[in-house]
Parts: sequence; C-alpha cells; structure tokens
Amino acid sequence: MNIVPLCTVMLAATLPWANICAENHLVVDTSRPGVEIPATMYGIFFEDINFAADGGLYGEMVKNRSFEFPQHLMGWHTFGNVSLMDDGPFDRNPHYVRLSPPSHRAKHTGLENEGFFGMGVHRGHEYRFSVWARTNGSPATLKVVLENPASSSSTQNIASASISVNSAEWTRYTAILRPDTTEAKARLRIFLDSRDATVDLEHISLFPADTWKGRTNGMRRDLAQRLADLHPGVFRFPGGCIVEGTESADRYQWKNTVGPVENRPTNISRWQFTFTDRFFPDYYQSGGLGFYEYFLLAEDIGAEPLPVISAGLVCQYQNKNPETHVPLDSLEPYICDAIDLVEFANGDTTTTWGALRAEMGHPAPFGLKYLAIGNEQWGPEYVERLNAFVTAMRKAHPEIKLVGSSGPKPDGDKFDYLWPEMRRLGLDLVDEHFYCSDEWFLSQGLRYDDYPRKGPKVFAGEYACHVKGKKWNHFYPAILEAAFMTGMERNADIVEMATYAPLLAHIEGWQWRPDMIWFDNLHSTVTSSYLVQQMFATNKGNRTVPVTIGGKPVAGTDGQNGLFASASCDETSGDYILKIVNTSGTPQPATVRLKGLKKASIISAGELTLSPPSAGISDDGTAIPDLDAENTIGSPLLITPVHHTVTPSSSTTIDVTIPPYSFSICRIRVAHRQ
Ligand code: AHR
Repeated sequence: MNIVPLCTVMLAATLPWANICAENHLVVDTSRPGVEIPATMYGIFFEDINFAADGGLYGEMVKNRSFEFPQHLMGWHTFGNVSLMDDGPFDRNPHYVRLSPPSHRAKHTGLENEGFFGMGVHRGHEYRFSVWARTNGSPATLKVVLENPASSSSTQNIASASISVNSAEWTRYTAILRPDTTEAKARLRIFLDSRDATVDLEHISLFPADTWKGRTNGMRRDLAQRLADLHPGVFRFPGGCIVEGTESADRYQWKNTVGPVENRPTNISRWQFTFTDRFFPDYYQSGGLGFYEYFLLAEDIGAEPLPVISAGLVCQYQNKNPETHVPLDSLEPYICDAIDLVEFANGDTTTTWGALRAEMGHPAPFGLKYLAIGNEQWGPEYVERLNAFVTAMRKAHPEIKLVGSSGPKPDGDKFDYLWPEMRRLGLDLVDEHFYCSDEWFLSQGLRYDDYPRKGPKVFAGEYACHVKGKKWNHFYPAILEAAFMTGMERNADIVEMATYAPLLAHIEGWQWRPDMIWFDNLHSTVTSSYLVQQMFATNKGNRTVPVTIGGKPVAGTDGQNGLFASASCDETSGDYILKIVNTSGTPQPATVRLKGLKKASIISAGELTLSPPSAGISDDGTAIPDLDAENTIGSPLLITPVHHTVTPSSSTTIDVTIPPYSFSICRIRVAHRQ
C-alpha cells in the first residue's frame, strides 16, 4: 500500500492538476536576487505592413483622400461631371476634384470612396466627415451619404448629411454621419446637390468621432486599446523595411509625416508589391499616422519611443543594386534628419522642430532616449554609413542611445560580421531579428547566457516562431516564443528590449503571417502570441531571481523534460513570479521550492495558464491538445489564459502540474514572520 502524505491528498482533492509525485524540482533562490529587468523589456514593434496603418490603426476611413496616388482617382468612383485638377491649396498634395452640374437635370454628379476593403461603421456611432472645399460661383450644397451597396432594404443609405459650401476660398467643412445599421463594407458617397454651382473638393476624410483618446487625427479605438493592453515598455516605429524604401525616394521620411495632415505627401508602401501573390496596387502611406502621432501613442501607452530612421541604404533584399545606396559624401541630409528628429522630440519650443511639435499640440518634450539607425541592414556598406551617423550623433546628442543592426538573421556571416563592428562603433544596442523555426526556438534557451556582458545590449527587435508549412497564428509557436522569452528574461542584463513582429494584420489585406493582432473593419482578435507577450509584460517583476533544475538554468536542456523557466521578483509587492513553459506533450508535475526565504513563508499563490484547447479525447480519456488552434474574429476567445489558485504545499513549496504545451505564470506571495 502506498502511503500518501495528508497535505498532498488534500491538494489533489481540491485541484485536479495538482500532483502527488513531483518529478521536476525547481528551485527559486530568493537569497540571490539577480539583475534589474528593464522597464523596456517587453515592447511592441509597429510597421505599416498588412494595412496596419492606413486601413488599420489610423482612424481614417477614406482611401486616397488627397487624390495623390499615382492613379489619382484610385479608390474613387466618379459619376456625372467630375474633373481632376492640380492647383490645390496644399503644395505637396496639389490634386483635387471639381464637381460641376451634370449635363441633364435628372442625372447626378459626385464621387464615391470604397474605403479600405469597405468602411466599417457601427450603428448609432458618429463619424466625422470633413472636406476642404470652395465654390466657383453660387453657394453649393453637398449631400454626403454612407451607403451599403449590398443592402436588401428599400434604401441603400445608412446615414446622410448636407453641407453648404458658401465660400470661394478654400475652407474646411465638417458634418456628422450616424449610421442606422452596422456595416463592415459601407461606402462614402458625395453628391453635388446644386444645379447651378461648381464646387472643388480636396482632402476628403471620414473618421470615427470616437477615436482612441478622442483625438481628431486619432486611432481606431479597439486596435489602439489592444496595444495599450499589452503594457509595452518600448514602442518601435515606423518599421521594418518601409524605413528603407526600395529606392531611396520611397524611404520613410519622418519630416514628411509631421505638420498639417493635408500637406503630408503620399508615399508608396513597399508591401504593395513585395509578394506577387499578395499584391495590393492600392497600398500607399498617407503619412496621417506620422511621427507626431507615433510619439503621442508611445506616451499614451506608457512606452519608450524608439524611432528607426534610414541609414542611407535601401532595402538590401528588395534592391540589389549598390548604386541605389546613398553615397557616403551625400549622407548629410540623412544625418540631419537624425539630429533634427531629436530636436522634434525633445527640443525646446524655441527651436525649429520643437516649435513645430508645440504647434501640433505637444509643447512638452516627448523624452526620446533611443534612436535606431537602419533597419535590417548589413555589410560594410552599412557599417561605413552607420559610422558617419554615430560620429555625428555622439557629438550632437550624446544622451541618445543608438541602436544598430545585426542583419536579417540571428546567426551566419552577416550576423558574425556585424556584431564585432557594432562593438567597434560603440553602439548602445544591437537589433537582432529572428523569424525562425520551431527547432530553432527550442534550441535557443541558453542563447543569451554566454553573451559578453560588456559592450552593446541586445534589442530583439523582430521575432516570431514560423513553423514550416504552418505560417499562421496557431497555438504551438506561441509556446515556443514563451520558452525563448524565459531565456531573454533570465538575461535581462544583456537583453534590454524585445519586440515580436509584425504587430497588426488586416484579414483581407495581409502580406505577412504570423502577426500579433488580426482585424477586419469592425472587429479585432488577439493571437496566442499576443497573449504570451501580454502575460510576460504584465508579470515582469523588476529583478531576476535564479531558478534552476539540478543546479542549471531551466532551458529545455537534457533531463529537464522540455521545461523552460525564468523567475523574478516584484520588489514593490514582494511577490515572486515564476514563468514555466512546458514544451513537451506530457504533463509535468513540479515542486517549486523557494530557497533562502528568511523568516518568511509562502502564504498564497496564483497561476495563470495558457494551454491549447482540446481537439478531442484520446482512448485513454485524456484531452488531445489542438496545437493548430487559433483565435479568429468569429471565435476570439477560443484560446485564453485561465487563472487558478494554488494552495502552498508547505511554507516554502508549491506543487503544480504543468499541462502539456503550456505556459504558466505562478505568482507567489510571501509573508514575513514576526
Ligand atoms: O516584419 C516584417 C519584415 O521583416 C520587416 O519589415 C523587416 O524588418 C523584416 O525583414
């Protein structure tokens, strides 16, 4: 007969996942607090890919609002008597349309915008229409309509308003539209409702009135909230490859994205044409979500802003012609952009760029501390240009931490060449990118344990687990990302920040998978990878604590049963936070012992677990984990972390069973004995 200790029987009786035979002994050594975990540790990386900006986070619903796509009427359908003009009020966006009375009284003149895959509108919500307009003669009336082209009811119109254009000077007019039904694919129609007037229209815009934080040039509320809910410590923008451009003229130029939105020039998106099987000829950047908005968003979500600027090299994947790189002796304007950016973010309001920031509504500095130069660049051509930037920036702004690139892969020739060069140039951080396989993620538990502690820190600036043949957001890769992240957390003295990529994807407009958040025109859903990021960021703690099995870091190595773990403490609450990932297909019973607790004992513990949904029940009665499962717009909560309370087994131990393919966070509260 087996003799089972009483305390274990009670635990097993109340907690189905508690186990009487612990096979994994994890020791959290509270007597050896480790390094500080930087506030920037878990962040987000924003790039306008997958229609993440225009058509996504940016609230604007009108596509090609300034008629500046190369096909000036792309996204628009005109009817009646409409002409395209090119001497408008905004010098960098000179095109506009002229609406003249139709040839016959029974006919109509006007135009219609198709939005980004349609326009998503919610019943009863307000949408703010605006337009710059002038009449060429008598006052003109515009009828503005939201219509549902697929309506089966007697009217296609779901909202309408009228505007009187009574000035011959360019003037901004607004109207509120309040739809009476919810539509994912509405369209905006504008009729010239006067028979004896001609009217000119420019910068035609439609925004939800209820943007995030209520800003006029604001963000789509649900998507911005998704970002805020990640509690990111750092916010990297605006990319990614779009920073570089396919030719230097297409590079992201921050100066074109500040000041009045009406005069921000349109730029092509390189994601328009990167993949011929995901070709979006109407993918352009309006610049409406520009550097001012990015800084503001970073501030709103409590993240350090981390802008990335062009290093004078185009995308080396997309354009292999070395002639397209900016010659070394012509780099000055690029370096000026870097220096001026610091002035825009931090400068006094008496400075040129600081004054513009104040004029735009933010006299206080944004407190920029980091700047990345070049996105995913490589080779001596990068190093020699970066050198010029570093020299100039150290002189002008020694207070700014500079981030350099280690190329597109986490190993190999480019990486091996660049890291020593980054040390030589004295970069503060090196950006590492890894879109790698499941095998790679499983093998990298100790990646940072042996990194040199002197010299640049690591910014894991783009990463995601891409399982071969399964490039979508299924459950399994998220668990491997969590496993890998425990290694980053354990090495928080060398890894200063980490950002999963990409962040956002429109379900109809994506180019790249997997991504963190998916959305359509009305809804959004978060992936397992998002949940992993959120669990880490909201349970970070501020100091590492060693956690070992058999005296070794828990990194999926021999004899560790596929477990990965990191531990930290939150010095404000006194909680110990243990993150455990079980990458194996079997439940892992574990005893967790808090070693070195002085005059203190565990009083309570709670566990938050992300595990795969069940794909059915096997012959032996156990659940079959559905590793391919994903949250979708239709089933957004299929995968969601679950809370349990854990009863301590003793004053220093808890016993848990870590489910197969799961990620658990155990928060352990201790109280000091008198
Ligand atoms: O995240 C998608 C792309 O991957 C980024 O634009 C680029 O930096 C990397 O190659």
